[in-house]
Amino acid sequence: MKQTEKKKIAVLRGDGIGPEVTEQAIKVLDAVADRFDVYFEYCYATVGAKAIDLTGSPLPDTTLEACKHSDAILFGAIGDPKYDNDPNAKVRPEQGLLKLRKELGLYANIRPVTTYNTLLHLSPLKIDNIKGVDLLIVRELTGGIYFGEKGKSKDGQSAYDTCLYSTDEIVRVARIAFEQARNRRKKVTLVDKANVMETSRLWRATVKKIAREYPDIELDFMFVDNAAMQLIQYPKQFDVILTSNMFGDILSDEASVLAGSMGLLPSSSIGMLTSLFEPIHGSYPQAAGQDIANPMAAILSAAMLVESLGMLEAANAIRAAVQHTLEKGIGTPELKPSIVYGCSQIGDLIAHLVADPSEQITLKTDKISENISTII
Ligand code: IPM
Ligand code: MN
Repeated sequence: MKQTEKKKIAVLRGDGIGPEVTEQAIKVLDAVADRFDVYFEYCYATVGAKAIDLTGSPLPDTTLEACKHSDAILFGAIGDPKYDNDPNAKVRPEQGLLKLRKELGLYANIRPVTTYNTLLHLSPLKIDNIKGVDLLIVRELTGGIYFGEKGKSKDGQSAYDTCLYSTDEIVRVARIAFEQARNRRKKVTLVDKANVMETSRLWRATVKKIAREYPDIELDFMFVDNAAMQLIQYPKQFDVILTSNMFGDILSDEASVLAGSMGLLPSSSIGMLTSLFEPIHGSYPQAAGQDIANPMAAILSAAMLVESLGMLEAANAIRAAVQHTLEKGIGTPELKPSIVYGCSQIGDLIAHLVADPSEQITLKTDKISENISTII
């Protein structure tokens, strides 16, 4: 008899709404384990402001070890307002995530942006422009201005951050972008500031060279200021956007406007040792503990996680369950849905739909609204 495969998942729930959205993703992973031949072993570890409170460090060594020994990491969110407005804070929750990326060599961050027909009205953009958007941002994640030398002068009157890239760093992330494009619409747009920055010129030269190995993929270039505008005006022109750390950070938040809610966008960070999966949204402390946060980005991150472990069918089952939920007009409050669900109810529903897809047929919205559906 075939043995059930065991996968170790490090779970870093983090701050704010991180724990509650991650809990829903775990419910969905458990449903995957019920239906498919896999067993998930979870190892919970602290990170972010919670970890600072407990240990003084935003990334305790035990957490890093747990991550190194995992097949994948499920990450919630980090950040706490008590650090945001204190420029003198010596430790910050964000340092935990940055150190994790660096230590695990998570060099490529993949952020897919798709729109859902039932949610188009939520975006402030014109429906015709965003209907059918399907793009992927591949952001370099362990280099550039985030990790270059930084400092402040003795008198505190000047400060600097250095943007540094090597060709090796560019090559490995470029390969990810070309490989992703191969399974999509076969187009890579390199977004940079090559009219001003030396590092951007190195990116262009390096990516052009690599492109020769992918003759089936079209490569074009765009300056980041123009890209910021084009992303809002004509987003459908993009397939895979390849860009540096800081530009990718900014453009991916911008791109979330296309989807109508930050609460829908997942991401994966691919590394040399393991991979990390997290919603792109932050810790949203104002909503923490109220059961109103949208867990779909966390749940869709779990879909990316199982796909990375080779379980494409399970990943598609999760995505179909999310899609189905939205099509039924069910969602958390920020989606202004016809049927408002709490964070944990969404988790229960999607987990049920994943465990038994035949429930989709029996899912009666009128019954759900009266809370007498068989599956709630
Ligand atoms: C992100 C976040 C992080 C970043 C912060 C929390 C350090 O904004 O993952 O996009 O800037 O990379
Ligand atoms: Mn960001």
